[in-house]
Amino acid sequence: QFAQKDGFRFFMEKEIYEQSDVVGDCMLGRLNDEEILFDEIDKSLIEGINEIKICACGTSYHSGLTASYLFERLSKVKCNVEIASEFRYKDPLLTKDTLFIVISQSGETADTLEALKMAKAAGLKSLVVCNVDNSSMTRTADATILTRAGIEKGVASTKAFTTQTVVLWMLALYFGKAKNVLQSDKLQNELKALREVPKSLIIDDKIHEKTKRLSKRYLHGHGFFFIGRDVFFPLALEGALKLKEISYLHAEGYPAGEMKHGPIALADPELFTIALMPENLLYDKIKSNVEELSARDSTICSISPLKFDLSDDFIKTKKTDHYMLEFFEMLIALQLLSMEISVRLGNDVDMPRNLAKSVTVE
Ligand code: G6P
Repeated sequence: QFAQKDGFRFFMEKEIYEQSDVVGDCMLGRLNDEEILFDEIDKSLIEGINEIKICACGTSYHSGLTASYLFERLSKVKCNVEIASEFRYKDPLLTKDTLFIVISQSGETADTLEALKMAKAAGLKSLVVCNVDNSSMTRTADATILTRAGIEKGVASTKAFTTQTVVLWMLALYFGKAKNVLQSDKLQNELKALREVPKSLIIDDKIHEKTKRLSKRYLHGHGFFFIGRDVFFPLALEGALKLKEISYLHAEGYPAGEMKHGPIALADPELFTIALMPENLLYDKIKSNVEELSARDSTICSISPLKFDLSDDFIKTKKTDHYMLEFFEMLIALQLLSMEISVRLGNDVDMPRNLAKSVTVE
């Protein structure tokens, strides 16, 4: 309640610009030269665990989906993710070798809290990744990892997502090391990339200017597809959600390889495709997906360190050597783009219609 805008136009803008700093806070004391440390979790929490189940809502669900790729890749643990409101009523099969992870900015979302209670009642070990200490979820779960993002006022979540994703990436490495499945040079490489995250979140004026310029035309879009592969698929979902939340424009996030199974039928020049094209992960695959859309006349905006000939518009991100650093750079571009479109449409960026910061009813 004491948060100030500090010269920014909106809380959302301030929170986008704060991400580099809060991610630094989030990593403080949790990352040393050789490993990841989490004082708040006991080794017994992961003993005997063969599977991870993640439950969350909204933007927190997207960080969970991102984490599911990282847990399988880096910790070699089976991981699946569910939307909390779906999980609650499907008679889920729960086994005690599963660690149940809930993710929540507020720690109060009703569906996520109930999912956590169900897992506890079934005897599962539980962990919450949360931004609010002493919230209902931190009081319920066996263990808590705080994201330390500070108060988030904008209804459209930004820095909470970033810190959640960083915590979950660190957790995947923590697991991988504990299970002895991460080779030391691989781990070193991941730690090096993690240390560079705050830098990758420093906002480049050129990117902000570019999103302002693009917003003039993009506010006329009849529909948007955000596409990506692997972790860039949940990032595409998050980009689409941001646009929906504050611009009220129709947007969908899609796995790029799935476009040909239906959505490509919508392609025409009025359809804007925002293509997440990381250099370090499946570049050729996403490229051919975007080529297909371009051949069907969709307007393409690529976000990438590499210029792509068929793009109508291009947001250039910095060159890096790790796909997760590209992930965070692209996230900033997506957040700024949705904010600038919303501003031009004259919407209330911080308090979008029909939405609440925290949904404590079912
Ligand atoms: C609301 C907010 C979203 C948020 C979701 C989950 O819908 O508007 O921004 O992602 O709740 O909230 P949580 O606090 O559990 O992360």
